[in-house]
Amino acid sequence: MHPPTILTATALLATHASAACSRSALSDATAAYIAWQTAGSPSSTSTLSLSPNLTITENDVSLPLTKSTLSQPIAIDFSRSFYDTVACASFTELASTAKTHPYVIHTHLFFDPTTDTLKLSSVDSVVTDDGDWVFDASGYLKWTKQEKWDAIPEAKRNTRAVIKAAGDAYLDQWGNSSVQVPFATPCARLEGGAYTGERSPTTNSCKMGAFPQPLKVANRRYVIDEEVGAVSIFNGFPWLEKSKPDGATPSSNQIRVEGGLIRYIHEVTVCETKRCGR
Ligand SMILES: *[C@@H]1O[C@H](CO)[C@@H](O)[C@H](O)[C@H]1NC(C)=O
Ligand SMILES: *[C@@H]1O[C@H](CO)[C@@H](O)[C@H](O)[C@H]1NC(C)=O
Repeated sequence: MHPPTILTATALLATHASAACSRSALSDATAAYIAWQTAGSPSSTSTLSLSPNLTITENDVSLPLTKSTLSQPIAIDFSRSFYDTVACASFTELASTAKTHPYVIHTHLFFDPTTDTLKLSSVDSVVTDDGDWVFDASGYLKWTKQEKWDAIPEAKRNTRAVIKAAGDAYLDQWGNSSVQVPFATPCARLEGGAYTGERSPTTNSCKMGAFPQPLKVANRRYVIDEEVGAVSIFNGFPWLEKSKPDGATPSSNQIRVEGGLIRYIHEVTVCETKRCGR
């Protein structure tokens, strides 16, 4: 009788954990985050619970909540989110073309997977604004709105492993031109506010030439959604900041995979000096 009892307990635990990190719970909590960022403070009606150990990280710097972007209101023109029920996390892109201070922000929310209701444990954001790599919030808004990141029919979905491998190959190829990247045709990259698909919307314009030095794209953090075929990879982008060719600047790559092939890439990258000195 002993083994079945253990199995039952394990099964119950597993059910419990996945119920807390359901797609709908992650979606509700992420909507509460967006409302919070819009208002610059958590809404009084919000049901978002915070872990006592909540950490806020922006552009690789840990900040108190009061010093973070979350504590200032931002008029958001557009947002898109996807959900990782395995990692108990979500990804959100936010674009604000507000004249006072335009922003494009990519955010990873991580939730404590051990509690019955979701508790926000980490907000990790790449916050870009004027002077960052090819920054143009209006361009970003224009192009992202035109893309389709809808749910992929169940029979056509890729596994987490395939989606992640496609994203990793793209980042690996920056430092090693022999890496084969599974690009679709068409494939378009939105880099800051610049869109490779503007001039040739029917071709693969995602290919990157070789960088002038070998690079290793490290510090990768992932949020993966099989339903949308999406992976978000936060990472350290080496070489780009001209004064620090051996350093790494905070960067985000948001990738949509269809049938195993990369269809869209969004990149936002933070520069220490205007346009990374380039
Ligand atoms: C918060 O951090 C403390 C110290 O590391 C730890 O003992 C505690 O379990 C954490 N609480 C939660 C809810 O994660
Ligand atoms: C570059 O990529 C190729 C193909 O994946 C691989 O065989 C090779 O080991 C890589 N080179 C380095 C230096 O990582």
